[in-house]
Amino acid sequence: MICSFHTTKKIKGEITVPGDKSISHRAILLGSLASGTTSIKGFLSSDDCHSTISCMRQMGVEVTMTEDEVLVSGVGLHGLRNPSSILYTGNSGTTTRLLSGILCGQSFSSAITGDKSIEKRPMKRIIEPLSQMGASIMSKSGNGCAPLMIGGTDESGPLHGISYNSPVASAQVKSSILFAGMYADSPTTVTEPTLSRDHTERMALSFGADITTDGCAVTILPEPDLQAQEIVVPGDISSAAFFIVAALIHPDAELVIKNVGCNPTRSGIIDVAKLMGGSVIVENSRMISQETVSDITVKSSSLHGIEIGGDMIPTLIDEIPIIAVMAACAEGETVIKDASELRVKESDRIASICDNLRLMGADVTANADGMTIRGGRSLSGGTIRTASDHRIAMAFTVASLVSDSSVFLDDPDCVSISYPGFYDTMAAIVEK
Ligand code: S3P
Repeated sequence: MICSFHTTKKIKGEITVPGDKSISHRAILLGSLASGTTSIKGFLSSDDCHSTISCMRQMGVEVTMTEDEVLVSGVGLHGLRNPSSILYTGNSGTTTRLLSGILCGQSFSSAITGDKSIEKRPMKRIIEPLSQMGASIMSKSGNGCAPLMIGGTDESGPLHGISYNSPVASAQVKSSILFAGMYADSPTTVTEPTLSRDHTERMALSFGADITTDGCAVTILPEPDLQAQEIVVPGDISSAAFFIVAALIHPDAELVIKNVGCNPTRSGIIDVAKLMGGSVIVENSRMISQETVSDITVKSSSLHGIEIGGDMIPTLIDEIPIIAVMAACAEGETVIKDASELRVKESDRIASICDNLRLMGADVTANADGMTIRGGRSLSGGTIRTASDHRIAMAFTVASLVSDSSVFLDDPDCVSISYPGFYDTMAAIVEK
């Protein structure tokens, strides 16, 4: 596909972005395990979230979707049915890891896998703690990756609560263990090195789980009596990030993005944009379904490089592809460190970002745990190798706004993983 956004003269408009992906997954999972019918408004209708729905349907959960609402008929904590075939999670790491935690607590055995990317992503990070809880969970090919074979508690016995010090700040690992903890015979605590996104904690609490947090430690008590909820999902800040940067790097832009989820464990992109000199105004903040929601106004800005690392990384981990594009358009050097997790995302994002930025003429060095970008060079067009990674495709579509010629994407359709309408929204705000 050709992105000819390089001829854009102006960016202007007021937009909303689709619902938050992390929150949408969790609403389906918790709704499935609750008593009663959970209503989800603002649900993200994308490939990843449909993977979660189809897995839960395979285990007997009725999910109905209308244009503006998803209804989940909960079957209760112990009401899932034995799936007749392997559970397929597509490209979704969140579905694979969170659902594995739930599956470990079921009386029946199951198997779970996803696409080629999923079958390369590390699952030892959940296999180890879930095994410590007494679960029978193994990587079929013995390489620590999916397919995962999970034995039922009928054979392996009940799960036990553990106190687990996670070596990585990962909400997927944390949530997988917390979900398994609902089926354990004693409390489960997960402690992270730095705080990752806390949507599971917030939503599980609203469903009635007994869950407490203390700094980077979260404890859940077994056998919660989960009750159906009415959930309103905010716009995904990870999707809004592409438009925030689009407006910042274009010389004539003003954009309002309404209704964006600005949970502090997710909003590092806003802090970074401001630190780089970006004009970003966050206003009208309110709480909806336990999450902070705000409106964001962004204008063209002259940006400068900064250092990004430490505790900030988990709060912007999915935004690093678009932050790297912003850094290439900033004056001076940006160093991104402590982000080796990028190596094991939907693609090796350190490689995908650096290779494609270099292809467009940027001055960038890949490091083991991040990258150094010396900004300010003008960008040229070319063919982006997306590695079928949705966030790479969207980040470089934004980069095309300031390139001197057309940018081609080798797999434009992969944006449907998280943002099926991305190109339409982009087209709606550009004036050529
Ligand atoms: C997610 C957590 C993050 C993030 C992913 C979604 C979630 O992964 O990168 O896109 O919904 O819990 P990790 O928790 O593995 O860092």
